[in-house]
Amino acid sequence: MNDMLTTTPDFSIEAAAALLREHYGLTGTLSPLASERDQNFKVETPEGIFILKFVNAAEPEVESDFQTALLAHVGAHAGDLPIPHIRPTLAGASLARATSLAGVSHRVRLVSWVHGQPLAETQRSDAALVSLGRMLGRFDAALKGFMHPGALRDLDWDIRKAGRSADRLHHVTASEDRALLERFLARFSAIEPRLATLRAAVIHNDANDWNVLVDAADPDRVSGLIDFGDALHAPLIAEVAIAAAYAGLDHTDPIGAAAAIARGFHAEYPLLEEEVDLLYDLIAIRLVTSVTISASRRAHTDDNPYLAISERPAWTLLRKLDRMNPRFATAILRKACGFEAAPGARAVIDWLAANRKTLAPLLERPAATYPAALVPYGDPAHPMTVRSAAEQPDAAQAIWEEYCHKNGVTLGIGPWGEERTVYAGEMFVSRFIEGTRRTHHLGLDLFMAAGTKVFTPLAATVVSVEIEKDPLGYGCLIALRHEPEGCPPFISLWGHLAHEAMGRLKAGDRLDAGALVGEMGAPSENGGWAPHLHLQLSTDTDLSATEILGVGEPRYLDVWAELLPDARTFGGIAREFYEREGRSHEEIVKMRRELLLPNLSISYDKPIKFVRGEGVWLIDDGGRAYLDCFNNVCHIGHAHPAVVEAMAKQAGTLNTNTRYLHDNIVAYAERLTATLPKELTVAGFVNSGSEANSLALRMMRAHTGRENAITLDWSYHGTTQELIDISPYKFRRKGGKGPKPHVHVAPVPDSYRAPADWPPEEHGRRFAESVAELIAAMQAKGEDPGFFIAESIPSVAGQVFLPEGYLKEVYRLVREAGGVCIADEVQVGFGRVGSHWWAFETQGVVPDIVTMGKPIGDGHPMAAVVTTREVTDSFDNGMEYFNTFGGNPVSCAIGLAVLDVIESQDLRGNALAMGNYLMDAFRDMQTRHEVIGDVRGLGLFLGIELVTDRKSKAPATEFARAVSNGARRRGVLMGTEGPHDNVLKMRPPMIFSKRDADHLIAVLEETFADVARTLG
Ligand SMILES: Cc1ncc(COP(=O)(O)O)c(C=O)c1O
Repeated sequence: MNDMLTTTPDFSIEAAAALLREHYGLTGTLSPLASERDQNFKVETPEGIFILKFVNAAEPEVESDFQTALLAHVGAHAGDLPIPHIRPTLAGASLARATSLAGVSHRVRLVSWVHGQPLAETQRSDAALVSLGRMLGRFDAALKGFMHPGALRDLDWDIRKAGRSADRLHHVTASEDRALLERFLARFSAIEPRLATLRAAVIHNDANDWNVLVDAADPDRVSGLIDFGDALHAPLIAEVAIAAAYAGLDHTDPIGAAAAIARGFHAEYPLLEEEVDLLYDLIAIRLVTSVTISASRRAHTDDNPYLAISERPAWTLLRKLDRMNPRFATAILRKACGFEAAPGARAVIDWLAANRKTLAPLLERPAATYPAALVPYGDPAHPMTVRSAAEQPDAAQAIWEEYCHKNGVTLGIGPWGEERTVYAGEMFVSRFIEGTRRTHHLGLDLFMAAGTKVFTPLAATVVSVEIEKDPLGYGCLIALRHEPEGCPPFISLWGHLAHEAMGRLKAGDRLDAGALVGEMGAPSENGGWAPHLHLQLSTDTDLSATEILGVGEPRYLDVWAELLPDARTFGGIAREFYEREGRSHEEIVKMRRELLLPNLSISYDKPIKFVRGEGVWLIDDGGRAYLDCFNNVCHIGHAHPAVVEAMAKQAGTLNTNTRYLHDNIVAYAERLTATLPKELTVAGFVNSGSEANSLALRMMRAHTGRENAITLDWSYHGTTQELIDISPYKFRRKGGKGPKPHVHVAPVPDSYRAPADWPPEEHGRRFAESVAELIAAMQAKGEDPGFFIAESIPSVAGQVFLPEGYLKEVYRLVREAGGVCIADEVQVGFGRVGSHWWAFETQGVVPDIVTMGKPIGDGHPMAAVVTTREVTDSFDNGMEYFNTFGGNPVSCAIGLAVLDVIESQDLRGNALAMGNYLMDAFRDMQTRHEVIGDVRGLGLFLGIELVTDRKSKAPATEFARAVSNGARRRGVLMGTEGPHDNVLKMRPPMIFSKRDADHLIAVLEETFADVARTLG
């Protein structure tokens, strides 16, 4: 017999009952309880239930004192905690003494009974484990600051002493079992020095599931914590690790169980990241301690089943832990405590979201510009999925190609987080959760033809280039490391590539943003899949390419979302691709028909539903981004943050009207008039281009007392009847009633279509002669012109640039006849031409009245008229001018923001530079495409006139429409204009960059070639 057994108390029930009476004055029913070292009796008395403990005589007194002090401390600081509370003896002592028949003196303690059922005998639900974590957290929190000499004992169960397991390894017989333990011991050696730096305190140190009680009526609630025999001063995190080690025994998801305990503990007693980071290794090492102690005890005693009680499940759990990737396990544990799954993960995700506009396109063009569709791997019954699962990539690819062909799709997207049945192989069995599979895709798949080139959106260092040969593996696999300024480093993984990259890239190579990474591989090279790129991110830069799981367990999707986040932003896929909102196109068209004026027109046969604008891009309800080269209202880009902010700020402060004083209106009038020639000093604010022109006409009438109008053919000036009357574009076409007697139409001074015998330098004068003739005709009838109105670059007429000297001559003629000259800058103003603020300036004239609209508010409905003091004085004839919305503080704040952006970012300079760049490209195209008759433009106001024959200049209307539609199909918006609808019209936002220009040029080139092929 060893010492331990001779000192083990061995009192009879009768003796125990007598002692109970003697020391505590209690009588009741006693029943023995199992104990490893001591002797315990359950005591049921009328006063309650207790445990009578006879302490093993071998236990040093300091330890009994320690336990007594510990219980007393917790009792004092957390009296409501369901732990045993000491009942003093009749003499008022915490301990009594009793001598056994063998003559050994034992210490005796009576504590209250803690109700509940051992956790070990229950289902150990997640809720129960969270509850256990909370209980331990509260218990340890109650022990903060508690110390006792007995807490400093030397115990093999002290996690800091777990290295001693190495000395017990020889008791483990199987060599593979020893190797398993050695692996964990090696990991422990690596972290051991860190233990000394962690927070340490007195902890329970043995929250195994026999020492934890749950409420019999509510097994999700832990109702008690017992057995403080192993309490010890140790690293705090050991408390969680030990409880987790036991909770994980025979648990289908041991890391999930540990996570639940950690979550509960953290809620009561916040853990530190550096503590949670050690949890996986500490759980494992506790099990190593347990199995080696069991092995050693077995060697010393007969096969005591109590000693070996947790041995088998402990081995099973160790083998499970060994198969797991500790970094993934740690990510789960970190996330359970509310930490990032990997340090810096959220910063990477946030950085990508904030900087997405600066990323280079991953495909030849921004991925969002390709017509895209979801690849049906999420639908187990879809024939493509069925073929793929049956490892028939060619058949799967054929189905996909047919679908793409039918639907005009060029990019297939396999989203992050998608549940797929194709993951059928052994390798997809979960290593975390028994009996489950990894089913959810953690990459972003981009399906295009084999050979499609893919480029890195960010500068990178190549981490690895390898070939995964396994069937259904990655084929050529590349890992890149990115470390953009202001962002923690992260990894991008590029799978299923062609093998060509192997010879071209090697670890350590530096790639600039936009550099080629590889090409999508054919099934023969890519692991046997339909050609696609598997793109994945890892915020844990220590994971190797092959460690990064491409498929994960749904239970931990929130963990994977941080550790291996969705690459959609990195890849340039718009969020609208995933989140369709609102009504269908058909429904909106139907409702428009029922509810709105029927003569609203809709662009394109297949209308587009835009849901978001951003800079030069418009994004449709399917997430496709279109390069907006047409809409000249959002002058400085869609949803410009400066405009949005100015609008929101002022709208949130005050919006009134001109009857009250406000700074904005005078500040804006001052800024606006400063952009104009010195004669134009007085501003009037309205809400639309039409209103601006109507106000201009009122001013004209007040100033001249006349009605006669001279307007250019095919012009448009607005939507009110008096403006329709001076808009041949309207009154000459469907529904129009021809010119009214006071309206005199001059021909469009279109140099391209001027009579061939006119010398080019005379075009201005010769076209002006037609105006002289109109005035002469009026005067012959005893009338005079009231005004001349023209767009400074006639746009509806087909982006016509007035010949040099034209306006000078016309203005001279009109003014000589007593008329006023109105420049309609509604389309062309605000620096669009780049060289000047206002397009009339390119003609060297100063109008009497300038009207402005569209670009003035970057989409906000506002407009303006600016005129001379002279005209203003005539207008000020006693009749009040009031406009409810015109010049309100919000509109003026927006107007100021637009001017600020144009000026501070030199957008006029940009318009000129980009315009010249595009004009050069268009002229170059003209040398190759006979159909391009004329190329016209200044700044970002551009036109390409198409003709079937350059000599006859017969309009190529069908070609122009086909180009406009073809560009739309390729994700670029432009329009057609002119009397024959044969002029391609482009007016991109002023922020148009060279990258945007190149995109436009490439699409135009492709479209022209395509249309030329199809139309012949
Ligand atoms: C040259 C010109 N003037 C005036 C208008 C009328 O502007 P709004 O539609 O804002 O009333 C337009 C509109 O297309 C226009 O192009």
